[in-house]
Amino acid sequence: MVACPHVYFADRWVTRDEAKVSIDSLAMRYAISVFEGIRIYSQIDRTLSPRPFLLDEHIERLRNSLALMRLPDPGVDRLPALIEELIHRNDIHEDAYVRVAVTAANAGDLGTEALPALTVTATPMGRKRWLARSEAMSLTISDWRRAPTSVFPPAAKNISNYAGPRLAWLAAREAGFDGCVLTNHAGRLCEAPTAALFLVRDGVLLTPHLSEDVLPSITRAWILRTAEEHGIPARETGLTRADAGEADEAFLCGTGIEIAPVRAFDGRACRDWPDSPLTRTLIIAYFVAARGAGSFRALGDLSPIRRDELINGPISTSAETQVAK
Ligand SMILES: Cc1ncc(COP(=O)(O)O)c(C=O)c1O
Repeated sequence: MVACPHVYFADRWVTRDEAKVSIDSLAMRYAISVFEGIRIYSQIDRTLSPRPFLLDEHIERLRNSLALMRLPDPGVDRLPALIEELIHRNDIHEDAYVRVAVTAANAGDLGTEALPALTVTATPMGRKRWLARSEAMSLTISDWRRAPTSVFPPAAKNISNYAGPRLAWLAAREAGFDGCVLTNHAGRLCEAPTAALFLVRDGVLLTPHLSEDVLPSITRAWILRTAEEHGIPARETGLTRADAGEADEAFLCGTGIEIAPVRAFDGRACRDWPDSPLTRTLIIAYFVAARGAGSFRALGDLSPIRRDELINGPISTSAETQVAK
């Protein structure tokens, strides 16, 4: 996957190679840099350009991260226009991932006031293998703890918040799992290193409450809103390892992973895997919204081609003909 060459960095459009921060910067010395990952989706209506999904929500969370990290706002209200220009300059027509960062690029010591540099970059990105190949994740519940609010605000999407979860993830992969769920100081379930967690039990969606030291995930919030709109019962609550072991279905969700079904926790299979009916319904609802495909309710039963088009992006007329044959 080749990253798009044209990037916005510190108030200028430059090439990726030209965007550099100094080794003396607060970002390099103390990891002062907040960011957002935003998905760009090609639209079912091919006459439209690809569009960012849930952009207002990402900008709002970025503002909150800036406030929590005491970073001045470099002008994040420019982001809708900058992302549009990013799409145009890089000639993006397919699904992509946009990374927005606000980085303390000035030199200094721990007490130096941060001067923020806004960076906006894009990388082409389709589905991860869970959706691309209809696979499901085997997760372990990690003993690694998510930093509690008293140590570092979990709501600040700052790069330093990923160093510990990365170690948990590496350990999980070495142990043969696809990923892990971190626990909090009380041993309750939090989230994966870069995704929120949902369990399903008796038709009810369950997700750790925001007070459980989790990032306020935008996908998580979208799922809760969508569940409410469609009359699917959902609860934010405290969850334990035992709850994971008893789950009928489970999935991780987040901008990068989208919605990835989970098949087992620590080798114990989720009861309704591989049917996972609620997870599958939410996956379709997600791509209907992301690709501007109109009403989820109006879709009815999807043909395999229509489902594939929704999830993987609209196919060209020639490809459609080939599939139809
Ligand atoms: C720690 C953490 N939790 C959850 C998520 C999912 O959040 P979102 O849905 O906003 O991408 C992410 C990804 O951004 C994350 O880094």
